[in-house]
Amino acid sequence: MEWLALQHALLSHLPVAIGLLLPWPLLAAQRRGRGFRSWWTVARYLSWAGVLGILGSLLSGLAMGRLLSLLPDQRSLTLLAFGDGPQLHLLRHALLGAVSLLLGGAAVWAMNRPRKDYESLGLLALSLGLLWSLLLLVTGERGFRLAQRHLQAPVQKPIQAPVAAAVVPPVPPPQPRPEADPEAGLPLRALDFASLVPIQADPVKSLAHGGRWIRAYASPEAAGAYRAGSPLPQGALIVLSSVEDRWGRPGPEVGPVYALDMKVAGPALTFYWGRIPEARRGEFAGESRVYWRGSDAHLDTCRACHAEGMADPAKRSRWRPKKVVPAE
Ligand code: HEC
Repeated sequence: MEWLALQHALLSHLPVAIGLLLPWPLLAAQRRGRGFRSWWTVARYLSWAGVLGILGSLLSGLAMGRLLSLLPDQRSLTLLAFGDGPQLHLLRHALLGAVSLLLGGAAVWAMNRPRKDYESLGLLALSLGLLWSLLLLVTGERGFRLAQRHLQAPVQKPIQAPVAAAVVPPVPPPQPRPEADPEAGLPLRALDFASLVPIQADPVKSLAHGGRWIRAYASPEAAGAYRAGSPLPQGALIVLSSVEDRWGRPGPEVGPVYALDMKVAGPALTFYWGRIPEARRGEFAGESRVYWRGSDAHLDTCRACHAEGMADPAKRSRWRPKKVVPAE
């Protein structure tokens, strides 16, 4: 699932390219006469490629949504109508993708209808095809903006060195604008852990974190220090992704995301679980989703081991699942 999820950015380029390419052969195929039949073939070929591309993008997108527990459950589907924030944008993007698949199916059908040699490819094929291309482009653009939002969230202003006053004429310092907190609803940076450097190849069972199977990811500049267990540089981000244990092995249920942010003001912990399985909700006052960060009192228990930020490297778990060797 993880592999598929990480292919989403790559796979989703194909339908976008089809959205750009398809209109031209479709227009050319509107001319009647035998000389224009090769454009039918081009349009049909592109439409099939587009349908396969959108199918791949949808599957990998769903896997990504599940991996990051971003897909809401039925109860929060009302979000679509009333909510706001990244989750709403994600839902819209997913819905656009699903509609693109349906419309793509219709367009492929219209383009592959039997036509007489002297006819054109038909207005139905043209209109469905153009509409589909537009939808593919809009879906891709929405996805691109979602990804951009991810990238923009982490911007940390570099600390500026004091400049000699004599050289620079005194300029009134710009008033810091009260900016909306981009991570108010979701820990965007932590959820993007796939863009960080993975520390273990396989998950390890961590008794300190509810007996879940965890994998650690570190921001590139901190990966070396984290591996070595030496103090982390300022600005470092370490994320644990986790899955629930099932019969002593990593199970199918996605667990919480844990994050450690080495901020200027000191280490900051985050605990985010996008979809708590029914059976575990009792431990979270019945909530289906929790997001604790900063000075949240729920994180006090974490500070027993994370007072300085990073936990004692000597206590790291090394408990890997046993390799099952298939019997001959
Ligand atoms: C009993 C001690 C203990 C408690 C309690 C604990 N952790 Fe950890 N934590 C560890 C250890 C040990 C590691 C190293 C990874 C491993 O082997 O589990 C770790 C790793 C981490 C990391 C990766 C960075 C690092 O320090 O290695 C994060 C982030 C993290 N924990 C967050 C949390 C959060 C959030 C909580 C509270 C919900 C929590 N931890 C509770 C011991 C603890």
